[in-house]
Amino acid sequence: MIIVVGSLNMDLVVRSPRLPRPGETLSGGPFVTYPGGKGANQAVAAARMGARTAMIGRVGADGFGQMLRLSAETDDVNVEHVLSTPGLSTGVALITVEVGGQNTIVIAPGANAALMPEDVDAVAPLIAVARVLLLQLEVPLPTVVRAAAIAHAAGATVILNPAPAPVGRLPAELLAHVDYLIPNESEAAVFLDESSGVPPEVLARAVSAVCGVPNVIITLGAGGVAMFGPDGVTLLPAFSVDAVDTTAAGDAFVGGFAVALSEGLSPTEALRWGCAAGALAATRPGAQSSLPTRDEVLGLLQLGD
Ligand code: RIB
Repeated sequence: MIIVVGSLNMDLVVRSPRLPRPGETLSGGPFVTYPGGKGANQAVAAARMGARTAMIGRVGADGFGQMLRLSAETDDVNVEHVLSTPGLSTGVALITVEVGGQNTIVIAPGANAALMPEDVDAVAPLIAVARVLLLQLEVPLPTVVRAAAIAHAAGATVILNPAPAPVGRLPAELLAHVDYLIPNESEAAVFLDESSGVPPEVLARAVSAVCGVPNVIITLGAGGVAMFGPDGVTLLPAFSVDAVDTTAAGDAFVGGFAVALSEGLSPTEALRWGCAAGALAATRPGAQSSLPTRDEVLGLLQLGD
């Protein structure tokens, strides 16, 4: 089973000819809402790729919260432990997507910020039976630390996607419980004093050394992926696709990687699953709306063989 402790957001999206400059107003396309949030996206990604998946998080006692629970449930994510939080709004993300597929995102965390270590303690027996625990940084850090500690003690594989990029260094008590750290390039840079011009494989090795995490995977979008682990460096190219919206492509990567690992595939094979899932997600608009099925991922993997 894959367990996700993390965020649920309603994404409020507008497409724009380009990203606005500070102080600038642009006229964009129609306004659209999509279920999102890095935690929920990774849970839905894992479930669509065939894993038994449960989500632990918080939404507000409002319409967006109901919609997010329902849509994750429709994708076979167990949402029994997505709690309703009176007095707080459901998390929202304000997203602008430009024609090339790049985006900017600002989050109002709302109920995500109320997910406490005690909430995780309450479901410790469930976390303890996970094969893989997926974590991100859109819920409070003490909650992430507690979940990682419970899963690590129970022998689960702990994957941390440090997004959004942490402000300052992550606590050693968290990193000690992490088996795989999966930042993108800008998130990876936060872990080092100086990283400009450093090749990704060197960056992955340096982040592993600084953090003491055995496996570091740096996602590079159209540049593929670089992993440093006990067997050294692995570099994989991206699948070539026409990107329309990169929102949740990183979440799809994490979900695909986790599903493959949970099925006993090698880390290198799991990287390919992640790359295929991420590439497919970039070809469609929205967050959870863009996440691929298992058949789609297997199809792209076969094409790449
Ligand atoms: O990773 C993409 C996600 O980041 C969006 O769905 C948005 O909700 C933010 O959490």
